[in-house]
Amino acid sequence: MYACLSEKDHHSDFPGNVNLPLSTQNMNEDSSVEKSKKKEDRNPVCVGREDDIKKLRRTTVVIHDREVVVFYHDGRFYALDCRCYHTGGPLHEGDIEDINGQPCIICPWHKYKITLATGEGLYQAINPREPSPKPKWQSKGVKQRTHRVTVDSGNVYVTLSDTDDNIESDHYANIHNRIILPPKKK
Ligand code: FES
Repeated sequence: MYACLSEKDHHSDFPGNVNLPLSTQNMNEDSSVEKSKKKEDRNPVCVGREDDIKKLRRTTVVIHDREVVVFYHDGRFYALDCRCYHTGGPLHEGDIEDINGQPCIICPWHKYKITLATGEGLYQAINPREPSPKPKWQSKGVKQRTHRVTVDSGNVYVTLSDTDDNIESDHYANIHNRIILPPKKK
């Protein structure tokens, strides 16, 4: 079953709008991790027209109280939690860079690198035992929750991740831990 987002849940006015809406429906005050446990939260949700998102390259949506950013990059759609796992930075305002052949979002706050496809945090490390050590990209593991994107009849759908593993970005996906960002200076 497909559902479509209402106007209030759909934000495509990038990059100016950094104050994402805070929906307050059905929040569990005691939950420290905002995972989508309800079955209906795992239905695909229509987030916009394929052509529109391709033109915009990125858009933000709120799906079942979760802020999600959808990117269109190099012919592929990606969806991730919008708030960076580090301290809640606005990933929808980050640049995309190719690192080791993987498209990554660079968080605008402290420049953490996160793979779009898997949500892994990347860092550079050197092996001091090597004769001339050079920094190499390594993975910290999955830090940012990613969601499934599908396209059907010209519409783009996001299905929230159904893994019950704790992922660090869950903390900032919780409505009570979100940071209200100041408006951008013009
Ligand atoms: S908040 Fe994203 S790198 Fe710090």
